[in-house]
Amino acid sequence: SDPALVERARAAKAALGGQVFVLGHHYQRDEVIQFADVTGDSFKLAQQAAARPDAPYVVFCGVHFMAESADILTAAHQRVILPDLGAGCSMADMATFDQVEDCWDVLEDAGVADDVVPVTYMNSSADIKAFVGRHGGVVCTSSNAKRALDWAYGKGKKVLFLPDQHLGRNTAVLQMGLSLDDCVVYSPHRRGGGLTPQQLRDAKMILWRGHCSVHGRFSLDSVNEVRERVPGVHVLVHPECRHEVVTAADQIGSTEYIIKTIEAAEPGSSWAIGTELNLVRRLANAHPDKNVMFLDKTVCYCSTMNRIDLPHLVLSLESLARGEVQNVIQVDEETAHYARVALDQMLALP
Ligand code: 13P
Ligand code: SF4
Repeated sequence: SDPALVERARAAKAALGGQVFVLGHHYQRDEVIQFADVTGDSFKLAQQAAARPDAPYVVFCGVHFMAESADILTAAHQRVILPDLGAGCSMADMATFDQVEDCWDVLEDAGVADDVVPVTYMNSSADIKAFVGRHGGVVCTSSNAKRALDWAYGKGKKVLFLPDQHLGRNTAVLQMGLSLDDCVVYSPHRRGGGLTPQQLRDAKMILWRGHCSVHGRFSLDSVNEVRERVPGVHVLVHPECRHEVVTAADQIGSTEYIIKTIEAAEPGSSWAIGTELNLVRRLANAHPDKNVMFLDKTVCYCSTMNRIDLPHLVLSLESLARGEVQNVIQVDEETAHYARVALDQMLALP
């Protein structure tokens, strides 16, 4: 990265001192992550968002839904800043509030809504989290999906899982002991979700038809190919990958889990990792004694995570140092209230 920009970021951050708290998701670029006070997966960042109530500004280096959650979880006087407002998440965009309300009507018409506890993945907008909070549900992340889904399934007789069908299916089948037949997929663009009322009555897990475009690229072929090419390789993937990929892998976990696994790995061991490329590259560079590679031959960043680059971070920090607060993410009070109910429920899971 440009040394002049690095110096500007350093100077602006030093000038702000304790006024600014910088959070960075593991998928951020190296040039950005070096300025984070805390790095983490989405669960750790949600926990840490409120860790510095004395800092009036929280600069969130990640994507929009994470910054919204940080705004909900921080104190009222704190402002959360997203250095590029275009840093969204294509998966979160696959479930809109209106579509989820329509889905609930479909569940009511089928006579099952009273049995359903909704669970939304952190990767969803604040109004979806608020919907879930209003209906007695919970938020989850990739590191606590089993606990959240066990809780919801124990509370109702069915779960509506938004918006990542893969995380929902992988957790249900590989961790909760449900079968593939217990899961149905609700398609928001089809009448009645593309399901009959009987299918909704029989299902235990109603999965929203959403997915991550980055993790969706890994295929069973990529797993087979790397196993052939690299004898003894361990395949380690994120649970947003497709079911057949996760089933063929050796280990599955959130970005934080992936990092800890590589840190603890034997020197000389080989690892093919199915997650975003900035993180895989950083792990490969940090562990030259281990053979860490990307689980695919084609390069794949998360394009929205990558929108937060050093120039955007510099602009955010320098404008704050001048007393100008730009790119604030602020969730309206009522939405924040109910979204917080679902987020607090997650943070309180045993
Ligand atoms: P983590 O929960 O592992 O941080 O993943 C978030 C995410 O967006 C993965 O695509
Ligand atoms: Fe969204 Fe996928 Fe990017 Fe994660 S990696 S932020 S789920 S698009």
